[in-house]
Amino acid sequence: MQRIGMGLVGPGFVAAHHVDAVRRLGFVDVVALAGSSDASARKKADAWGVPKAYGRYQDLVADRDVQVVHVTTPNFLHDPVIRAALGARKHVVSDKPLAVSSAEARGLWQAAKDAGVVHAVTFNYRGNPLVQQARDMIAKGELGPVHYVHGQYLQDWLLEPTDYSWRLEPDKGGQSSALGDIGSHWCDLAEYVVGARIQSVLSDLTTVISTRMKPESTAEALATAGTQTRREVAITSEDLASVLLRFDNGARGAFSVGQVCAGHKNGLELEVNGRRASLRWIQERQNELWIGKRHEANALLAKDPSLLAPAAARYARLPGGHQEGWADAFHNLMRDVYEWIAGGKGASGAAPFPTFEDGYRSACIIEAILKSHASGGTWTKI
Ligand SMILES: NC(=O)c1ccc[n+]([C@@H]2O[C@H](COP(=O)([O-])OP(=O)(O)OC[C@H]3O[C@@H](n4cnc5c(N)ncnc54)[C@H](O)[C@@H]3O)[C@@H](O)[C@H]2O)c1
Repeated sequence: MQRIGMGLVGPGFVAAHHVDAVRRLGFVDVVALAGSSDASARKKADAWGVPKAYGRYQDLVADRDVQVVHVTTPNFLHDPVIRAALGARKHVVSDKPLAVSSAEARGLWQAAKDAGVVHAVTFNYRGNPLVQQARDMIAKGELGPVHYVHGQYLQDWLLEPTDYSWRLEPDKGGQSSALGDIGSHWCDLAEYVVGARIQSVLSDLTTVISTRMKPESTAEALATAGTQTRREVAITSEDLASVLLRFDNGARGAFSVGQVCAGHKNGLELEVNGRRASLRWIQERQNELWIGKRHEANALLAKDPSLLAPAAARYARLPGGHQEGWADAFHNLMRDVYEWIAGGKGASGAAPFPTFEDGYRSACIIEAILKSHASGGTWTKI
């Protein structure tokens, strides 16, 4: 197989997992990193064993050895970096959210189609074997018609007023904070698993911590700011949200999102109730799928490729009893993307991974949720 050169812009928290995931493929070389300065890029490149380091993303995009550009900068930089990469006709893997508004996301989707390259957005929970299993069971009608889709995505890393991230600043993260950051994952997962689209939303949002102590020098997201000098800043974006949903297949739904919920680290949960059975998948216990029955005993299906549907078994890397995790699912998504690129299939809408079209759709859902709340809690169409 011909080797593929990967370059990454924004070498922070999640970038390390992009690098790890593509290296595990065996036919991808991580050629270059671009950071916010020459020094920071070089430091990360040395730490991660990457040969080239750039202080300007334009130089990485122009590098002839880079065929695929990964974008893991703060959200507001996705647009200029992706546009530069598309201008150079490079394939692009962007982390979510694709952009800070639906208009921007739509523009990127159009630009990617015009460039004729492969485009992907890392809604990585699709890469979990038991997510694939749930999707397969629902598609085969094993639950019967679905009438309720519900769950939550709760974290606690923004619980203290001293917790801080660029995600809280609308000019860097976008108008939405928690919803854009993790609500986007929940909505993508729900639509993907159920095979139906959210049609309208009714929401109630709030900012629990409305004043935070911002460190003078902003650390990378999720890094602790230690004992730095801080100043008080007002926070306007939501850190807690409750949303009712109506799906286009008639199903109803509800989910909550919060990053101020003590004890919840990466508490993504999805439950689907059909006329014959229910399914529940909990990210923090991702190696099991709960199957709920009325007339039989409930069951827990373990992640075991010998027990999974063929469509799901290919996402399991290890035999039963060998636990797999977040990084494995991320790697699975990268395998789908890079096999598509290696196969020279182009930017087809039939790609088996989330594309910029999904990134655009996600931005529309988040905007409708914000609009519903701003209008006093009214049903709002996507
Ligand atoms: N898929 C997931 O589950 C997941 C998880 C975490 C983050 N993310 C997304 O990934 C992106 C990055 O999040 P993070 O948590 O890694 O943030 P981070 O703050 O840890 O990292 C961002 C990096 O971008 C760098 N950067 C800033 N300006 C730059 C510039 N002009 N050029 C190059 N680099 C620049 C920063 O120095 C930092 O290294 C966000 O869009 C976020 O929503 C996705």
